[in-house]
Amino acid sequence: MKHPDFSNATVLSIPKISDPDGRGNLSVIEKDTIPFVIKRVYYLYDVPSTSTRGGHAHKTLQQFLIALSGSFDVVLDNGKERISITLNRPDRGLLIPNGIWRELENFSSGAVCLSLVSAEYDENDYIREYEEYLNFKKD
Ligand code: TYD
Repeated sequence: MKHPDFSNATVLSIPKISDPDGRGNLSVIEKDTIPFVIKRVYYLYDVPSTSTRGGHAHKTLQQFLIALSGSFDVVLDNGKERISITLNRPDRGLLIPNGIWRELENFSSGAVCLSLVSAEYDENDYIREYEEYLNFKKD
């Protein structure tokens, strides 16, 4: 998936090594799998199906999201239009560049969202008000 109006938000394949003896799969993320250096890793779990996470944009941070288990939807909003992407495979990840509003919803039971990000935690990098996000996009 490449959507021209979403600053190259892209679903990337994560290399998968299937065990020849049927012992399952192994996926690996290396330096060249994603286009930024990972500075922090966090994960969401035990999210009720009725809850929404995210609801913000980042001024500079880039992010790579993977449904390690289960599924959830990522709604991307560039200030003009919205698209929804379902993540449900541990060998696919969604690259979200900076400057895109995101909301995560419809978490399945047991869903785990792994998040690899390009920066340390900095509340000043967040835009948490949608009106402020629209102003940020105008600048
Ligand atoms: P937030 O980024 O708002 O979560 P989400 O977008 O998934 O709903 O973070 C929720 C809370 O956790 C908020 O108080 C900030 C804190 N937090 C940290 O302290 N460190 C972190 O690395 C992250 C991602 C969040």
